[in-house]
Amino acid sequence: MNRPLSPFWALDWWSAWWDAWGATPFVAPLRDAGQARALEKLHATAFARPWAAHEFERLLCERSTEAHALWRGGSMLGFVLSRKAVDEAEILTIVLAPSARGGGHSTRLLRDHLTALAFGGVRTVHLEVDEGNAPALKLYQRAGFVRVGERKGYYPLPDGSRATALTMSATLS
Ligand SMILES: CC(C)(COP(=O)(O)OP(=O)(O)OC[C@H]1O[C@@H](n2cnc3c(N)ncnc32)[C@H](O)[C@@H]1OP(=O)(O)O)[C@@H](O)C(=O)NCCC(=O)NCCS
Repeated sequence: MNRPLSPFWALDWWSAWWDAWGATPFVAPLRDAGQARALEKLHATAFARPWAAHEFERLLCERSTEAHALWRGGSMLGFVLSRKAVDEAEILTIVLAPSARGGGHSTRLLRDHLTALAFGGVRTVHLEVDEGNAPALKLYQRAGFVRVGERKGYYPLPDGSRATALTMSATLS
């Protein structure tokens, strides 16, 4: 015998769909300058000198910028921004929300971003990273980046000292 339809069937269907798909993080290109404030907020969770919304707005409007965001449901969990020039690109920044760190999501975000750069004709990607930033170093090494140099005293620290930046590059296939 068929069970009578719950008066809340639409709600049940929606929550089943949400459990199955809404909670799964996904990566998508980021082109909407209207997201600049969301980027500003995420960036401020990670850096002592965060970039302002208008700087993100300008970057998102530039044709040379490649940007991707990691979403779960309607929330942005992280993003990565690069600037392209012919067949080279530089990763400007990559950030995950503190609640999203430690779950391996950054690997996926970076992988999809590098794939998009490769499809766009980029062959070499460069970046700078604080030599003390262990999660970022591991992330980049796993993605195929190798150390090519260093810049001593590059990053100013809140206590007045300065940290060394490592320069890294990867060749995309
Ligand atoms: C950098 C960042 C995107 C990495 O994302 P994440 O979710 O923290 O990274 P993961 O959890 O995937 O960890 C990456 C690796 O670092 C390791 N790791 C994490 N925290 C670590 C720590 N404190 N010390 C040493 N290794 C650490 C993980 O074990 C993992 O290595 P594995 O793949 O061998 O297991 C994220 O930490 C972040 O947003 N940081 C603030 C912004 C930032 O520093 N951006 C980079 C600027 S260049």
